[in-house]
Amino acid sequence: MKPYHSYCFSTSPKERNKMIWRAGLLLSWTLSVATFIFLLTSYSNPFTVTPKQDPDEATSTLRIKNKEDDEKPCDLFVGRWIWNPNGSVYTNRTCKTMPESKNCGKYGKDDKLLVNWRWKPNGCNLPRFDAEAFLGIVRGKKMAFIGDSVARNQMDSLVCLLSQVETPSNVMKSADDKFVTWYFSKHDFTLMILWSKFLVVGTKMLINGSDSGVFNLHVDKIDVKWTEKLPELDYALISDGHWFFRKTYLYEENNLIGCVFCNDANVTNLGLGYAFRRAFQTALKHINRCEKCKGLVTLLRTFSPAHFEHGSWNDGGRCNRTVPMAESKLNLGGTEWEFRSIQVEEVERAKVEGVRRGKRFGVLDVTRAMLLRPDGHPDTHWNNNWMAGYSDCVHWCLPGPIDTWNDLLLEVLKKDSYIA
Ligand SMILES: *[C@@H]1O[C@H](CO)[C@@H](O)[C@H](O)[C@H]1NC(C)=O
Ligand SMILES: *[C@@H]1O[C@H](CO)[C@@H](O)[C@H](O)[C@H]1NC(C)=O
Ligand SMILES: *[C@@H]1O[C@H](CO)[C@@H](O)[C@H](O)[C@H]1NC(C)=O
Ligand SMILES: *[C@@H]1O[C@H](CO)[C@@H](O)[C@H](O)[C@H]1NC(C)=O
Ligand SMILES: *[C@@H]1O[C@H](CO)[C@@H](O)[C@H](O)[C@H]1NC(C)=O
Repeated sequence: MKPYHSYCFSTSPKERNKMIWRAGLLLSWTLSVATFIFLLTSYSNPFTVTPKQDPDEATSTLRIKNKEDDEKPCDLFVGRWIWNPNGSVYTNRTCKTMPESKNCGKYGKDDKLLVNWRWKPNGCNLPRFDAEAFLGIVRGKKMAFIGDSVARNQMDSLVCLLSQVETPSNVMKSADDKFVTWYFSKHDFTLMILWSKFLVVGTKMLINGSDSGVFNLHVDKIDVKWTEKLPELDYALISDGHWFFRKTYLYEENNLIGCVFCNDANVTNLGLGYAFRRAFQTALKHINRCEKCKGLVTLLRTFSPAHFEHGSWNDGGRCNRTVPMAESKLNLGGTEWEFRSIQVEEVERAKVEGVRRGKRFGVLDVTRAMLLRPDGHPDTHWNNNWMAGYSDCVHWCLPGPIDTWNDLLLEVLKKDSYIA
């Protein structure tokens, strides 16, 4: 992790008290208005609750009609975190594959607090993860997470969730641990991580023979280490982002076209968004043009925000909050949201081409939900080398809010259009 934007938002205790007081007022006001509206509607329309015969059932059942049933499909990605003491479906004892660096409970974080918040989409409920249902959908299929260590983080969460039903076997692990494959034999399901820092070709730039931390990015050249496997896959879950936060020189057709986080006399600073967008365009275009990739479903998991406070990643920054952030503090003006918007736009563009090419695309739009979870990172409870000496405010604890990404994944997979 090199030059990293500081993701700062600060709230003083005084402000917080004010917020709590205001939230209290707002809550009581909302409750009284809601009660009033409820009374009003139930009196003026006594037939809202109608007994209904379910044609598929022999015995008649009284079904209370949910108003939400009538509405257009709900947007799973817009909502809030609500308290739900039911906790996670797994723990660090029931998930044997949990990486030490994500085992926040073991290193002193109060994981009871962490897992007792559930994502509540505004128009519906997000069901609890159902491993049987998931494995039923992906029976006989191959799925890959493609991207950086946050993509790996989601795969590790999914392995914990699925291993409550079936223990997978580890069938491949590269020496550097960047490429790992799990096989669920009872369901003939293969799950893997394909590592890529930038999705496109990125090489370290050596200055006078030593590692400068600067990268040369060929934004029009695909990183073949992940695309090699593509023709075998039924599902590709693509993501990336954190490696772009550093000085880079950008190339197209092998010509230097500009740079990012730079101030060079004769090279144009094209900005972070440019590099990020071009990398995703190249990746999605490659998928669309992959002729051997029959029926591939690609889901792009949108940018996962980091939450450094009280400093940046390399000068004592922390992420030591213990509760989700208030919705009113949601900041959609930063780089995180810009990245997310670029990703959503590029998926929309890929979808149009995908119709002609028999490829399907969708998004797992987690950015908004995760912006509200500064409490979900390991912080100082890391126990390995990749953030050595620093707080980890980039990755997510297991169990923790990242499990929600897989709850969302299951709901998205259930849609007909995404059954591979
Ligand atoms: C907690 O789980 C129980 C049993 O599965 C369920 O009946 C209850 O509705 C859940 N509570 C919440 C708040 O979701
Ligand atoms: C699991 O987490 C708990 C805290 O929730 C901790 O006390 C315990 O040591 C951890 N156990 C393992 C095996 O990691
Ligand atoms: C590389 O080394 C040369 C000779 O020692 C020195 O003059 C030059 O400034 C160095 N370049 C950079 C970018 O450090
Ligand atoms: C930019 O200027 C430096 C110093 O004059 C030179 O070494 C370098 O080759 C130039 N780069 C380009 C792309 O022209
Ligand atoms: C979080 O860490 C900062 C910096 O070390 C400290 O000032 C602050 O009090 C801590 N907050 C909590 C809730 O522990």
